[in-house]
Amino acid sequence: MTAPIIVALDVRTAEEALRLATRLKPHVAGFQIGLGVLHGPGPGVVGALARVGPVLADAKLHDIPSQVRAAARRLGEYGARWITVHASGGQRMLEAAREGLAEGAAGRDTGVLAITVLTSLDAIDLTAVGLGDRPGRLVSKMARVADAAGIEGVVCSPQEIRVVAEVAPRLLTVIPGIRPDGEAAADQRRVATPEEAIVRGADLLVIGRPIVDAPDPEAAAEAIGVTIRAVAAE
Ligand code: C5P
Repeated sequence: MTAPIIVALDVRTAEEALRLATRLKPHVAGFQIGLGVLHGPGPGVVGALARVGPVLADAKLHDIPSQVRAAARRLGEYGARWITVHASGGQRMLEAAREGLAEGAAGRDTGVLAITVLTSLDAIDLTAVGLGDRPGRLVSKMARVADAAGIEGVVCSPQEIRVVAEVAPRLLTVIPGIRPDGEAAADQRRVATPEEAIVRGADLLVIGRPIVDAPDPEAAAEAIGVTIRAVAAE
């Protein structure tokens, strides 16, 4: 049975991404391709993976609206189900992404997800770049903009799921920064376990290294699925 997990296939080659996707398909709801793959093997991987399952192209676009519209259209043509863009690009840029993606997808179901505050940033990092010291406050503002732009959802840390539900309950919440109990946070800062994220109301969990770097990725994905189903049934 699949769990509401998007596995982040942050690997080196297209072959590795496809091999992992095929193995993990029974356990997960979709596959994320990030910047390392999009700028290495290239966006053609999106098309190959889309034949296995829904693909989230984590392109993290952030530019003027016309550029973002063009890039989103391309990713739609490749077969992306979702793409990410930075919420800080503003409402018009988010609208351009939504329109471009829909044009490229030509009738397929698609959705834009706005990156709010990266899960690798903490209050000290935000203060250093002049964005204040409260991730929750920023996420709340960005969720309102995403809602106004009519996009499908937001990407935020497990710690801001409730903030999004309060200000824009329509939005899908897609949550990285997931670490099963005891696992290394690595470069992530605002983290939670899969169970905590589901209890707080996450719709989809984005999980990379805890699955991809596990000695047995299928067993790791299945084990996380079991813990999620256990709390969802409570
Ligand atoms: O390996 P890990 O589980 O930390 O992977 C998380 C994935 O989610 C990475 O591909 C990362 O780029 C992505 N992501 C994130 N934080 C965001 C948006 C996306 O960690 N705010």
